[in-house]
Amino acid sequence: MRRNRSHEFVRRMVREHRLAADDLIYPMFLIEGSAARQPVASMPGIERLSVDLAVRECRRLHSMGLPAVALFPCMNGELKDDRGSEAVNPRGLIPRAVSAVKTACPKLGVVTDAALDPYTSHGHDGVLDERGDVNNDTTVEILVEQARVCAAAGADVIAPSDMMDGRVRAIRDGLEADRQQHVKIMAYSAKYASTFYGPFRDAVNSATTLGQGHKRSYQMDPANADEALREVALDIEEGADMVMVKPGLPYLDIVRRVKDAFSMPTFVYQVSGEYSMLAGAIKRGWLPRESILETLTCFKRAGANGVLTYFAPDAIEELCGA
Ligand code: PBG
Repeated sequence: MRRNRSHEFVRRMVREHRLAADDLIYPMFLIEGSAARQPVASMPGIERLSVDLAVRECRRLHSMGLPAVALFPCMNGELKDDRGSEAVNPRGLIPRAVSAVKTACPKLGVVTDAALDPYTSHGHDGVLDERGDVNNDTTVEILVEQARVCAAAGADVIAPSDMMDGRVRAIRDGLEADRQQHVKIMAYSAKYASTFYGPFRDAVNSATTLGQGHKRSYQMDPANADEALREVALDIEEGADMVMVKPGLPYLDIVRRVKDAFSMPTFVYQVSGEYSMLAGAIKRGWLPRESILETLTCFKRAGANGVLTYFAPDAIEELCGA
C-alpha cells in the first residue's frame, strides 16, 4: 500500500476527492452603516460588515472563484419584536444587501435564510403560541413572505433554516405565485439542535434574546439518524432543489447516508462552533492551518457537494496559492 503513497506525484494520481473553490459557500454577517466592521468575539477572524464592505469582500472572493455567499443580518434590538416583523420588510438590511451584492457581482450566487431568529425579541426561528412553543403554521406564512421579499430583491437561493414542517412546499408555492420559478430552495433538511451554534447566535445578536431558551421542539435530536432521512425525503418531495446537513464534522455519517439514499445535491454546514474550535486552536498554535483544508476535504469524502464554511476565504486563498 505504501508504494502509492511514496511520492507527491503518485499521491496526486490516486487521490479520490479534491476540494475546489466551486465547493464553497461563504456565510457573511451584515450590519447597518457604512465602512463599518465589528469583530465577532467568539469567532476569531470573523467580522460583521456593513453592506459596502461586504460588497467589496464579495467582489474579491468572487474574482478568486467563490460561487456563492449566504447573508445573515445582525439586527439592533429596537428592530426586533415577537413576530419578527423586520424579516418581511422589503427595505430591510438583507434585501438591501442582496440587491447591492447582485448589482456589483451579478454572477455571484446569493443565498438568504428563511428563519426569524435574528428578528424576534425571543430569539426563536418562528412566532410563539400561548404555551411559548413555536407555532408551526403561522410561522410558515411569515417565512413565505420573507422568502418572497428576498427573491424580489434578487436572492438566487432561499435556504429555510427554521425546521418548521411543510415550509419547503409553502415557500415553493409562494415563489411560483411571484413567477420566481428560477429561485432555488436549499433546505436545511437535517438540522440538529446543536450546541455548536453558540457563536453564530453571538454574531447575529440572538444569543441574549434566546437566553436559556432552546430549539429542541423544532431542531433534531443529535442522537437520531433515521429521522434525518425522513426529513430529507419530505423536503425533496416538497420541492427542495438541494438539501443540507448541519452541523458538519460531528455529523459526517448523516452526510454519507443522505447522499447514498437520495443522490441529491447535498450540502453541509461547517457551523460557527466548529469554526471557532479550529480557528481558536490555530490562533494559539495548537493546530496547523492545514487542518482547515483537511476538514473541508473530509466533507467531500463523506459525499457532500459543497460546504458552507466561514473558512471559505482562507480555503480559496490556499487553493489559488494566494
Ligand atoms: C438560524 C440559523 C442558525 C444557524 C444558521 N441559521 C442558528 C440556529 O439555528 O440557532 C447556525 C449557523 C452557525 O452556527 O454557523 N435559523
